[in-house]
Amino acid sequence: MDARQPHILMCPPVFYGIEYEINPWMKRERQADHDLAIKQWNNLLAMLLDAGAKVSLMTPVRGLPDLVFTANAAMIFQRTAVLARFRHPQRQGEERYDAEWFTEHGLQVTPPPANTYFEGAGDALFCGEDLFAGYRMRSDARGHQEIGQRLGVRVIPVELVDPYYYHLDTCFCPLAPGEALYYPAAFDEYGQTALRELIPHLIPVAREEAEAFACNAVVVGRTVVTNAGCPQLAASLAQRGYRTLETPLSEFVKAGGSAKCLTLRLDGEEAAAWRNVDGNQV
Ligand code: ARG
Repeated sequence: MDARQPHILMCPPVFYGIEYEINPWMKRERQADHDLAIKQWNNLLAMLLDAGAKVSLMTPVRGLPDLVFTANAAMIFQRTAVLARFRHPQRQGEERYDAEWFTEHGLQVTPPPANTYFEGAGDALFCGEDLFAGYRMRSDARGHQEIGQRLGVRVIPVELVDPYYYHLDTCFCPLAPGEALYYPAAFDEYGQTALRELIPHLIPVAREEAEAFACNAVVVGRTVVTNAGCPQLAASLAQRGYRTLETPLSEFVKAGGSAKCLTLRLDGEEAAAWRNVDGNQV
């Protein structure tokens, strides 16, 4: 097998549903269509395999509907998984299953900093050498700084100001070192400036496409996989030499998630300099 094959963790939506409301997208009366959710998830999986990724699966657990959003399970750095501590009690039951999975699969598992919330790759994404870290809605800024110190990487904390964009991966998507997508209005002035100064090729996403989760994209090589309904994004990406594939994920948008949230990159995102440096593989 190719030592550089992208490796992604997913969890089948067997027990997925809108069982509680912990972000503004979730309304229990706007229930997900279960069969359609399974179909959409299978199509996403097929697309990622087709794009060349290897996909590992977590076992779904009854009563933990959001376990499908594996992006939140941990943040991966080389062979270390920094585990999540969820802000909402509704998701805290996921933590032990996440810890078990990473331990059983040979990663070095480390807890999040004491007395802080941390929602994994949902809020912490490498672009080049730097770890961009979203805080306020879910993860704590102090925890991000401590993780940076532990791992020996520079952390760029960015405050999330719109409750609809409560995780960093709903409004920011690194594509390659020095290149990323972002939805400006999800950040304050300071955050927008920091992103613009540190990332030379920053592609803004229009409001209506941010609402369709355009920023919640999975990058596999030069292929970008997103929810359906992001034509402007596809055009901007084509100009920069990316191929965009769309697949409908409406049933997951009802929980406030889309393509990226349903995946966790185990070998390092394409944009992470550490992956490009040592090609580490789980
Ligand atoms: N319902 C989940 C929550 O609110 C959705 C998580 C989406 N995950 C993500 N990485 N943005 O926690």
